[in-house]
Amino acid sequence: MNAPRARIIGTGSYLPEKRMTNEELAKIVDTTSEWISSRTGILERHIAAEEEMTSDLATHAGRRALEAAGCAPEDLDLIICATSTPDLVFPATAAIVQHKIGAHNAKAPAFDIQAVCTGFIYALSIADQFVRSGMSKKVLVVGAETFTRILDWEDRTTCILFGDGAGAVVLDAVEEGGSRGILSTHMHADGSHVELLHVTGGISKGRPRGFDVRHEALGFVDMQGNEVFKQAVKAMGAVAEEALAANGMTVDNVDWLIPHQANKRILQATAKRIGIPEERVIVTVDHHGNTSAASVPLALDEAVRDGRIQPNQIVLLDAFGGGFTWASALLRW
Ligand code: UT7
Repeated sequence: MNAPRARIIGTGSYLPEKRMTNEELAKIVDTTSEWISSRTGILERHIAAEEEMTSDLATHAGRRALEAAGCAPEDLDLIICATSTPDLVFPATAAIVQHKIGAHNAKAPAFDIQAVCTGFIYALSIADQFVRSGMSKKVLVVGAETFTRILDWEDRTTCILFGDGAGAVVLDAVEEGGSRGILSTHMHADGSHVELLHVTGGISKGRPRGFDVRHEALGFVDMQGNEVFKQAVKAMGAVAEEALAANGMTVDNVDWLIPHQANKRILQATAKRIGIPEERVIVTVDHHGNTSAASVPLALDEAVRDGRIQPNQIVLLDAFGGGFTWASALLRW
């Protein structure tokens, strides 16, 4: 008897209404629109409204994914939210989403995953294990962030990169022997480079040295961008190759690569390293910047809705982020 396989049966995403263009950024920090677009490919990012929380973004994206899946909130038997910018220290944002989304009758377990920009693929991989083991059938997996709340708006090397948003998928357990669904996932971490990419404060660490009222959150994003860039390309290349080898495939089998949307140059360099032509790489970073855990499902939803991704195509999800963490998921759509 084959184990059940998880298949994505609906996708959704949400970007807050407020947009911030490069020109607007150039008015508040020492940069130019030209520098940002040529070095990152980012043209604008979205900023959550003051009263909008990560759970609100996640709820919008989750509802859209449920609608696309033709699935009621009560049908869900697991909710996982990947985020580094939760509403509160506790409870988990996933639990808040369960309530907001109206999954009242489900009493389904709900928890958060924290793997920064790799968070969505980590969450997808965990959901896949729950489905394969028979523990869950219908799972909502969300990546949602209000990353602009943890930016230092005086640091031009980071504040130009990030934006807010959410993306979601609904997984269903497919009939035994079905060939569509998640073929494999691979996850990795190396915690020895925290200083290259981290948030300066935390709960047990407390607020950063020199804390002042500018930083209402518990610290802000600090990154050695240049070094992270090199590590990201190397790791995303390696974990993509790992996924292909595990499935006896080559890059020629891949219809679409959906890499973490951090910087257009990182996407191009990763695609080159893997050997996939740029026409088969989904790029959405231009209109939302780096949305951390939301980036992969945002890009996936866009490519599903505009019809690029078609049934039975091979889709490779690939991400890298703080930790460092990196992961891939290979899907037959
Ligand atoms: O999600 C996973 C984590 N994040 C990432 O994957 C991001 C990874 N890194 C990057 O995307 C890029 O490294 C950056 C976009 C952050 C920076 O691009 P870069 O081509 O690596 O530039 P750099 O850090 O080598 O800096 C080049 C110059 C420096 O000036 P000097 O020292 O050469 O005089 C910077 O001070 O560009 C300067 N610079 C800027 N100039 C104008 C840095 N940021 C800016 C800015 N505007 N916003």
